[in-house]
Order: sequence, then C-alpha cells, then structure tokens
Amino acid sequence: MLSLDTFASHAIAAFVVLVASFYFYVKYTYNYWTRKNVPQLPPAFPFGNFNALFSKSFSFGPITKHYYDDLKKAGHAFGGVYIGMTPHMVMVDERLGRNVLTKDFQFFVNRGLYNRPNAKTTANIFFQDNQEWKIKRPKLTVIFTTAKLKLFFNTIKQCADELEANMYKVSDGNNDVDIYENMGCYFTDVISSLVFGIEAKSFKDPDAAIRTAGRMLFTDIPIPYQLCLFLAIAYPNIAKILRVPPMPLKVENFFLKLVPETMEYRKKNNIYRNDLLQLLIELEESGSIISNDIIAETFNFFIAGFETSTTVSTYLLYELAKRKDIQEKIRKEVNEVLKKYNGEFTYDAMQELPYMAQAIDEAMRKYPPLATLTRVCASDYQIPGTDVIIEKGTPVIIPVLGYHLNPDYFPEPMKFNPDRFEGNVKYEGYLPFGDGPRNCIGERLGLLQSKVGIASLIKKYEFSLSPNMKGELVLDEDYFVTRATDKILLRLKKVEN
Ligand code: HEM
Repeated sequence: MLSLDTFASHAIAAFVVLVASFYFYVKYTYNYWTRKNVPQLPPAFPFGNFNALFSKSFSFGPITKHYYDDLKKAGHAFGGVYIGMTPHMVMVDERLGRNVLTKDFQFFVNRGLYNRPNAKTTANIFFQDNQEWKIKRPKLTVIFTTAKLKLFFNTIKQCADELEANMYKVSDGNNDVDIYENMGCYFTDVISSLVFGIEAKSFKDPDAAIRTAGRMLFTDIPIPYQLCLFLAIAYPNIAKILRVPPMPLKVENFFLKLVPETMEYRKKNNIYRNDLLQLLIELEESGSIISNDIIAETFNFFIAGFETSTTVSTYLLYELAKRKDIQEKIRKEVNEVLKKYNGEFTYDAMQELPYMAQAIDEAMRKYPPLATLTRVCASDYQIPGTDVIIEKGTPVIIPVLGYHLNPDYFPEPMKFNPDRFEGNVKYEGYLPFGDGPRNCIGERLGLLQSKVGIASLIKKYEFSLSPNMKGELVLDEDYFVTRATDKILLRLKKVEN
C-alpha cells in the first residue's frame, strides 16, 4: 500500500507533469506562425492577441487595426496572430486582402463564424457556409433589384418624414441631440417596416420591443452573452460543445415569434405589402426557399440593415457638423435636385446626388461600419509571390479599418474629404461593403435609405457640434461595431429655404 507521503509526492509529480505539458502545449501552439516562417505578433495565454473579455461588446475594427499597424510598421505584407489559441492570418497588404475576397474566392467562400447547430435565426446567408450559402444567395439577390428598391421608396420616405418631424422639436439651436440614437430610431423604423412589415414607431416609444432587441444585439449586450460571444470568437470549439447561443435568447425568441405571427396575419387577412417579407413569402410560395429561411433571412436583414446604416449616417452628420462648407454644398445639391423633381423625393432624384454619394463614401472610409472582414481558408492556399501556405481551416482577417486609414492610399487619412471619391475613383483597400461574390447584398438599399434620411434632414436643418462634445472622437474598442467612446451631440437650426 502507498504511504500518504508517497501518494502526495506522486500527486505533486503528476501535477507538475500536467502543468509542464500544458505549458509546452501552449508554447507550441503560440509558435505556429513562427514555425511556418511567418512573422507573428506576441500572444499571451489565454486570449492570444485578442484581449477583449468582458467588454461591452467586441470591437474588431480597432483591434485588427492594431494588428495591421504593428505588422505594417515592421514591414510585413501579412502576419500571424492568435485569437484565443487559434492562429489567424492577417492580410496587411491591401492587394492580398482583395485577392481573398475576389480572385481567389474559391479558397475563401466562408466567413467561418460560429453558429449554433440548428439555430433558426442564424441559418441565414451571413452565417451559412458552402452549398447552403451558394444555393440561397442568388435567390435572395433578386429581392434587391432596382425595381424592388423603387417599391420600397415610399416606406423609406415616410420614416424619413417622421425623423424630420422629430428633429423639428429640437431644432432651436440650443438642444443637444444624440444623433446616434435618433438615426438608430430612423433606421429601426425603416428596416422594421421593410423587413417585418411592422411600424416600430421608435421615436414615440424609444423602448419599443424591436428597438430594444436591436440595442441588445449591438450596444447593450447583456453580460452573460458577452461571455458567450467571447467563447464563440476565441474558443469556437468549446462554444460548440457548450452550444452557447450566439445572441440573447430573449432577442432570438422575439424574432421567432414575430415573423410567423406576421406571416399568419397577412395570410389570414389577405394583406399584400411592398416589402422584403412579401418578397420572401413569394419566394417560399414558388418553392425557392422554405419557411424557416424566411425567419432566418428577415432576422439577417434586420441585423445587417439597421446598425450599419445608423453608423454611416451618424458619422456623416458628425463630420458635416464640423465642416459647414461641405454641409452647405450637399444642401445646395439636394435643393437643386428637388427643384428639378418639383420638390418631390423620388428614387430617381436620390440617384442624382453625386456629391452626397461622395460624402457617404468618405464617411464609410473613415468609419467603416463593419471594420473587419473574415474568411476561412477552404483548402491550402499559397500566398501569391511567396512560398507561404495558409493551411486549410485557417481563418483570415482583412483589417478594413487599417486599409481605410492607410496614408499611402488616403493621404491625411483623418481628414474628412469627400473629394477623394470624385469621378467614381476606386481604391484597392476600400471595402465598406466587402467585395466579391460574398459582398453586401443590401448595399443599394443601405445607400438609398441613408441618402433619403440625410437629404430630408439637411434640407431642413443646419447641423453644428454641441459645445458639450469633447474634442476629437475616439473609436471605442469595447464595441463589436464601429462606435465612438462618447455620445455624438449635435445642435440643429432650421434653415431658410
Ligand atoms: C450602409 C449600409 C451597409 C453596410 C456598410 C454594409 C456592409 C456589409 C459588409 C461589409 C458585409 C460583409 C461583406 C463581405 O464579407 O465581403 C455585408 C454583408 C451583408 N449585408 Fe450589408 N451593409 C449595409 C446594409 C445592408 C442592408 C440594408 C442589408 C439588407 C437589408 C444588408 C444585408 C447584408 C447581407 C445579407 C450580407 C451577407 C451577404 C453574404 O454573405 O452573402 N446590408 N454588409
């Protein structure tokens, strides 16, 4: 029989072996890129290069910009980092990043996002992989054609009228207006109406269920889900075993109930509306998609459609408040176009605002709403011009914010200058909507709803910064999407037309 002393010394020895093995395992894992002769940024266990646990959310933009900056400063065209313990490749050179999205797309079809098996809301094209994505994407493309966008126009304009009317109440030049919150209400109204056929009335009821659901997904993520999100990003295999939900269950249940109820109501009452839900119902009736797809894709359009456009418009108005000359030039353009269309907002009129389009492009450059793109390598891929192989299964990071602030492409990158986009100039590293077969499907709708909102406001109000805003904006590292650390407070004054 073992004496107590012998048992204790065996236990200690086993523990030491275990700790030492784990230590060497971690060290070995964190040397993955070095072993492949790829430069890497120094990781630390357990977060690797992604120390974002218990943030309000997880901001990929500023974090991946640090990767980009550090690797670029050291003269590298690409380099390795570790998210948790998973090696990720960062494409520093813009041309390499664009190759991943376009020319070499067949190696990089999937985003590699965590998805809970059988989740109903996330079985959508943003999350889906391979065949599921390939089959569905072209079917959905048909609901974003020009003809369909024209059908949506009146709904968008009605929501913009509501936005304009709400701003009227605070347009005496003395009220601080939280512009992110107000634009969030406008886009929640537009997207809720277009996607679910419901009037969210976010201005009248800022805590309406759908607005609250939107906030819980992006900016007020409950703490337990911050942990789930961290696991999903840094340790997806553990997240899969634990089947962690990718979003608050309360939000998921809200959409799971809302969509079937709305469809049922429409069918029962023979209601036809010019909206995305109707088009999805028609796709289901023609056998193109199944009813679960309607739940998943409406949810997808909601999350993809309102926060992105809110970000673009918020930062555009912030920049315009600082640059009255640019603001005035856009106002003049809007007034001239509306005059041509007898004062009426129409789809065609919105296509004749080239300077405003440039200003939107510039806002998306400085503040890309999705500031990092990801793809996962489907089979071994040789980085062009090198002998480095990215192994099958390796996630690849495209640091969009880094690209957009690269002075080689955009001199004085922090300067807001819509002239950079004059004459439809194209930049290698400019990727506000991604690129290639998996780019943003709702790009034109996103731009249209932003233009209508901005044109409605700028025609009526002059924007300036509130004296209560402190200095330059700093992008918050605690958010998954692009957000500033402080509120953006503007003041509005009615303009004489
Ligand atoms: C200004 C507004 C918007 C911006 C900046 C934006 C940006 C993006 C970006 C960067 C991607 C990823 C592209 C990639 O990985 O290459 C994306 C994907 C997507 N967006 Fe948008 N988006 C906007 C508006 C919208 C709207 C209004 C909708 C629909 C209502 C939408 C639906 C989608 C969908 C479904 C995808 C996934 C496409 C796929 O994987 O096939 N987006 N968006």
